[in-house]
Formats: sequence, C-alpha cells, structure tokens
Amino acid sequence: MFIAVVDDEEIVRKRLQQTLEKEGHRVESYPSGEAFLGSLDGARYDLVFLDVVLPGLGGMDILQAVKSRTPDTEVILITGHASLNAAIEAVKMGAFHYVSKPVKLDEIRHLTRKALEHKRLLEENRQLKARLEPPGGWDEMIGVSPRMKEVFQVIRKVAPLDCNVLIQGESGTGKELVARLIHRESPRRDRAFVAFNCGGFTEELIASELFGYERGAFTGATATKIGLMETAHEGTIFMDEIGDMPLSMQGKLLRVIQEKRIFRVGSNRPIQLDMRFIAATNKDLKQEVQAGRFREDLYFRLNMVQIGLPRLADRPDDIPLLTQFFLSRYSKKFAKKISGLDPKAREVLLSYAFPGNVRELENLLERAVALAEGQTLTVHDLPPDIREFAGAPSEPWTTLEDREREYILKVLRHTHFNVGEAARILDLPRTTLWRKMKKYGLSKSS
Ligand SMILES: Nc1ncnc2c1ncn2[C@@H]1O[C@H](COP(=O)(O)OP(=O)(O)OP(=O)(O)O)[C@@H](O)[C@H]1O
Ligand SMILES: [Mg+2]
Repeated sequence: MFIAVVDDEEIVRKRLQQTLEKEGHRVESYPSGEAFLGSLDGARYDLVFLDVVLPGLGGMDILQAVKSRTPDTEVILITGHASLNAAIEAVKMGAFHYVSKPVKLDEIRHLTRKALEHKRLLEENRQLKARLEPPGGWDEMIGVSPRMKEVFQVIRKVAPLDCNVLIQGESGTGKELVARLIHRESPRRDRAFVAFNCGGFTEELIASELFGYERGAFTGATATKIGLMETAHEGTIFMDEIGDMPLSMQGKLLRVIQEKRIFRVGSNRPIQLDMRFIAATNKDLKQEVQAGRFREDLYFRLNMVQIGLPRLADRPDDIPLLTQFFLSRYSKKFAKKISGLDPKAREVLLSYAFPGNVRELENLLERAVALAEGQTLTVHDLPPDIREFAGAPSEPWTTLEDREREYILKVLRHTHFNVGEAARILDLPRTTLWRKMKKYGLSKSS
C-alpha cells in the first residue's frame, strides 16, 4: 500500500516511516502540509498519517483537501493532547481515526491494517453495487395492454411504501425489471439493489452468499466476507426464484425478515439491517405451500403485495410496441438502421405463442437485427421455427393425417418415388410406407 506521513517533527516521521516500511508498505513523508498537497497531483495514497498541528496549513484544512480530491484515501490524524477535540471533529469530517502523541508503534500498525481493510471493503461494496445495478426505469418498461396498465398502477402504488412484494410470472415476463423499477421508484433508490438467485444452491452456499462469513469460519475462509444482505443495507434485496430455496433455508430467511438482523457465518454477533424484500418466482407459491415445499409463514411475509405478470401471449397488444422498442435498442447496439418489419414478419410475430415471453421476443429481435441486411426485417430474418408460423392465421389448421400425407408426398417426390429410399429417410419399414401410400392414394401417377 502507498502511505504518506505528514508531520513537522522529524523523529515522528522517521519512526513511522521505518515501522510502516517494515510492514511492507511504500512510504513518503512530508514536513509540511504544503509539500504534501503538492505531491497529491501525481500520487494517490491509500492512507495518510496527518499531524493536526502544523506550521502553515493545519491538519484540518489538509484533511478537507484530501477528502475532496481523493475521497478514497483514508486519513489517520496524529494529535497532541491539546488537539484531541479537533481530532474528534476530524473523524466526523471523514478521517478514519486518530492517534495521540507520543505515538505507539503497535497502535500504528494495528490502525494501518484496520484502515486498509476498511478501504478494501468499501471498494468491494462499490464494485458489487455497480455490478448489481444496471439501469431499469419507466422508460425501459413497455406496455399498453390493460393487463400491463394494471401492473403499472400497482407498481406506482406500492413502490413508495416500505412493504415486501412478491412477483409471480413465467420465465421472461419481466419479473426482475419490475423489481428494479419498484426499487427505483422507492425512497431507497440511492441505495443498493442487490439481486440474488436462490435456485440451485445448497443451504451452506446460500448462507455464505447472503450472510457473509468471518475469517476462519470454515476451511477456505481466509478473509472476512461481507454478504449480499449487508450490501443491501438500507436498500432492496431481490430474491429471485424464491420457490427454489431449500426448506431449511426458508426458516432462516423468515427470521431475518422478522428480526431484521443477520449473523455472519462463524459469528454470533448480530448485525442489524434494514432492507426491503422483493421476491420473484415462476412457480405457483400457494401450490408449493400446499405441497409442503414452501413455508406458509414465509409465504405470508413475502406476499404483502402480489404482482402477477401476464404471459406475452395473453397480451398481444404489447407485441408491436415491444418490437419497436427492441428494434431501436439493437439497431443502436449494432449500429444499423432498421426501421421496422414488413407486414408478413409482423403477422408472424403476432401469431407466435412466445413460450419464452418477452425475453424470447427480445432475443429473436436481437439476432434478427444483428443478421439483417436490409432496412426492414423480413420473415427470412426470423428463426426458422418461428417462420413456420407464417400464414398460420389465414390457413386453417390441418389434421395430423393431412400433414403426414403431405410430408410423405414431399419425401417421395424428393426420391423420385424410390420407395426404399423414402422409407429410409422416413425411418419406416418399407411395408408400412406402402400401406400409407395406399391409404393416402399416393402413387407416381397421381
Ligand atoms: N414490459 C417490458 N418492457 C420492456 N422490456 C421488457 C419488459 N418485460 C421484460 N422485458 C425485457 O425482457 C427481458 C427479460 O426480463 P426479466 O429478466 O425481467 O424477466 P424474468 O421474469 O426475470 O425472467 P426469468 O424468469 O427468465 O429470469 C429483459 O431484457 C427485460 O428488459
Ligand atoms: Mg429473472
């Protein structure tokens, strides 16, 4: 780590520098605040030991300058007895700590380690927050159908209230988008939104992710780790796939919600936390309760407000607008000028069932835009399995037998009515094929 020592007494500078260098740090020392501030342009210190009383610029002014120029730098003040009050003031202004003169080297070593650990944790939290907080506001939430308008109304109503929310909906219907929007519209918006997927983890792994652990809690726990819930303090925690949380863990989660505190794994010191819970699931939680796979008390706790997201197929009126939205998003991303779809392609999208909901529509449009050559998407830009739907609305549904007849005829034509070859392609015994040809009246002459 890179440390600066600012003190007008040479003996103090020397002792600190020696001690800290022995600990493996790189140290620069300065006899005055002016000299130190002059170095700030080129250097970015992790930690500064700063004498409060200096000739010229005082320690408090320097502290202010450091905190405004490199806010991540930790500052520890060195005070004589007379300046103790000033030191306490300084801590309020963002100094990490203070030591009194005469300095004890053990204390210096200890505080240095603490300060650097503190800095590391802040950094870690910031990275987590940045990673967990992609955009997601009203302008990314598309919908004009009555079902979605209802959803929007509920979001507007509950977002500002501090209640837990349960979001239910099939995969790809926008559960996470809704959760982020609720957070955005809540008084917690400037705090973290932390998403955690409960699916597919063991209880141990979930506990250490959510609650963090103390150094030495188990083999491999070489340093204290802050859990996601601590990161979510004063913010929102989004528990995705809550229906997949192991039963044993559900009890722990219930207690956290009730008591608003957690214990890091390997610690019995409670940590008080304040967070809002938003849970999501693509299962019918009520049914899970009845089947004994989900705790009823936890269900009631989470289900203060429920938002049900409709399947895309149940709100076809949203498809054109969503399509336009994703076209412009991906045209921008791939630097293309795609203005819309031709009528045929539009018809196909409207008639397709979208088992993957909005996510599937988004993915197929992303791919289509990436591959498109013209300015308008055509059916040929759509995936083949969806292209099959072309014309489906105007063409009456056919029976399986009609389809079979048609397909056998296609194969026979392809093989120039070589029955052996056709039977091989169709993977049918030759006799079966003969029988079907007879049944459907298929012969070379027909
Ligand atoms: N109403 C909407 N308007 C705009 N984009 C949407 C809408 N609903 C969903 N999306 C987009 O569709 C994608 C899937 O949404 P999201 O991840 O929120 O769904 P999910 O229900 O959490 O899905 P899964 O169950 O697969 O995790 C995202 O890219 C999201 O931005
Ligand atoms: Mg999701």
